[in-house]
Amino acid sequence: MSNSIFAKDGTAQGVAKQRLIETLAKSDKRIINDPYADRFVVGASFIKLMGHTLNVWLAQKLVPGFHEHLMSRTRFIDDLIKRSAGSGIEQYVILGAGYDCRAHRLELPSSLRIFEVDQPEVQARKRSKLPRQLCDSENVTYVPVDFTHQSLTKQLMDAGFDQSKSTVITLEGVSQYITKEAVSSTIKEMATLTQKANSIFFISYVDERLNTNPEACFGKGYPKAAKRAEIIKYLSAKAGEPWISFYPAEEVENVLLQNGYFIKENLTLTDLNSQYFAPVGRTLPENQLFNLEHFVIAQSQD
Ligand SMILES: C[S@@+](CC[C@H](N)C(=O)[O-])C[C@H]1O[C@@H](n2cnc3c(N)ncnc32)[C@H](O)[C@@H]1O
Repeated sequence: MSNSIFAKDGTAQGVAKQRLIETLAKSDKRIINDPYADRFVVGASFIKLMGHTLNVWLAQKLVPGFHEHLMSRTRFIDDLIKRSAGSGIEQYVILGAGYDCRAHRLELPSSLRIFEVDQPEVQARKRSKLPRQLCDSENVTYVPVDFTHQSLTKQLMDAGFDQSKSTVITLEGVSQYITKEAVSSTIKEMATLTQKANSIFFISYVDERLNTNPEACFGKGYPKAAKRAEIIKYLSAKAGEPWISFYPAEEVENVLLQNGYFIKENLTLTDLNSQYFAPVGRTLPENQLFNLEHFVIAQSQD
């Protein structure tokens, strides 16, 4: 079972499912829109039938704030990519892209070269589900890499990565599934690859207090925080990809600093709640905040 496609794409499907649920909300109530997410989710018809409100209500019962947490992460990166593309960045490397369809849903300039990096089996399923013309988009290149065994540098260079071009890199919802060594070497390889041009690195990481002091990873008054922490880890392992790496803030920031980046932002859902959910009338109360994952934007030093 461990080599089956389900074991490899379980969590990618999980995130796509939350994007599908968010997309089902009315356009003036949702914070992201992913018209492709349903293609990747087993049981998408049933989820659509249930609609946004019921799905979010169910998610709230299981793990309050979980859906909003993932959607704030997606929106935060959407905004970063749109901002970067608007200011002329030339390449975008999506590390552990899974079923993320930012390349197609954000209306990015066609001059932006996009490299989607993930395990070959996940990429094959993704391509089999997308409309042919999107798979064949000239500006998107699929780069099959297993971070734990293969050289990202070689695969990206073979795929046409241009070291002289400015680049934005995202590692979204991946660091918890791979070893700390793999995360450090990925940051190092990308920093080396992009040293001749400006680069921006986004990384999300899970707070190590999830294991040592779970209450600190949720809003004040969050119900049964320790039990919820166990449920989250259990569900991920059950989907075939256990969380194996947890970090104190300074550890990830130090790896970025050592590789020539400075930290621009390190945020959680608490910071993004007012920015994204308040304007659409969906502000989460303190006791539903889910802060176990941090979202970091770092920029190369000039
Ligand atoms: C939780 S999913 C996130 C997907 C996507 N970034 C998103 O937010 O929708 C984690 C992704 O990391 C990828 N991944 C996990 N381990 C990997 C490895 N060793 N090498 C390459 N990709 C890996 C998985 O295939 C999956 O697509």
